[in-house]
Amino acid sequence: YEIYLNGMNGTVPRLPTDLTRLEELTEQRLGPGPVGYVAGGAGDGSTARANRAALDRRRIVPRMLRDVRERDLSVEVLGRTLPAPLALAPVGVLSIMHPEAEPAAARAAAARGVPYILSSASSTPLEQVAEAMGDAERWFQLYWPKDPEVARSFLARAKASGYSVLVATLDTPLLSWRPRDLDQAYLPFLRGVGTANYFTDPAFRAALAKPVEEDPNAAVLHFVSMFADPGKTWPDLGLLREHWDGPIVLKGILHPDDARLAADAGMDGVVVSNHGGRQVAGALAAADALPRVAEAVGDRLTVLFDSGVRTGADVFKALALGARAVLLGRPYVYGLGLDGQAGVDHVIRCLLAEFDLTLALSGHAGPATVGKSDLVAGPA
Ligand code: FNR
Repeated sequence: YEIYLNGMNGTVPRLPTDLTRLEELTEQRLGPGPVGYVAGGAGDGSTARANRAALDRRRIVPRMLRDVRERDLSVEVLGRTLPAPLALAPVGVLSIMHPEAEPAAARAAAARGVPYILSSASSTPLEQVAEAMGDAERWFQLYWPKDPEVARSFLARAKASGYSVLVATLDTPLLSWRPRDLDQAYLPFLRGVGTANYFTDPAFRAALAKPVEEDPNAAVLHFVSMFADPGKTWPDLGLLREHWDGPIVLKGILHPDDARLAADAGMDGVVVSNHGGRQVAGALAAADALPRVAEAVGDRLTVLFDSGVRTGADVFKALALGARAVLLGRPYVYGLGLDGQAGVDHVIRCLLAEFDLTLALSGHAGPATVGKSDLVAGPA
């Protein structure tokens, strides 16, 4: 209604309401470097394209005459009531997109009650972002460092700063072959020093031969060697359980057997995700993995979903495929690049407004009634 009223007064939105146009606009305004970092996928980009195709292929089957005047978008996730089935995905080094970086995104999310999942590769220390979050829920994403001292230090700092949900990302034991980053020699990434959480971490600093300020190159190399660990196996999850009191969610699950292992290990949830197509080129689309994982563990774990969500209809489809809520990645990052906190707010509002209308026009007054029978799958 707000947009109708503004239109009557001759005011049009500052950013497009079609969120799929934000990438192009960001490239025009910020140039190819920052957008290469955000848009880039693994290898030939086929997984990122498959994510979109798998959502597009599924079509909603709207129902009529179901009284949808009073709608409530809220959902229960990990024992919390969220205003809508949405969280902002962890994205590292947001200083590449905007000088206000993570705190701006966190404030926008907090103002709408949407959880913001802070990346451990954030360009702002987690303590500062916690302050920006105010009273909102604080979720922290961990790239599980090789050095257990650093891992413990991160968990202790996150706990002390009031983060309650831990999202441990498993699909990035190594950074993958990402041509758009490689062609730029990771320059935007390095300029953004996506390592503030590390560079300010006492355990990380203690392991350096010289202080970060004296030898930043050595510090960056040390960061790269230890930000994650290809040697981890399922029993290692014990360390997380031991040092974290709240819910733990494993991000990057695609195989139903891995989802079962997560449940057996006492985890609370999984994010079905292929990292927005940035890790395994040739991997299956996240939306194709989702129903199999939901079938396997939907009664034991909270199943979340990301990779390819761009519209309110995509949120609806993810719920119908078995997700409890979705994480949004690139679109809010473009919103941040284009207009800081206001740009992120614009993206959240547009997505939720479109989701609300999709629900209503499909005959649903809330997420709870959305299910398998609301979708058909078109040809591959
Ligand atoms: C990411 N992602 C990510 N994930 C994570 O667990 N920690 C991180 O630091 C990052 N960093 C990151 C940077 C950039 C530029 C992108 C695009 C993505 C993955 C992210 O959380 C999420 O899984 C995907 O972005 C979801 O896909 P869409 O919505 O971007 O298609």
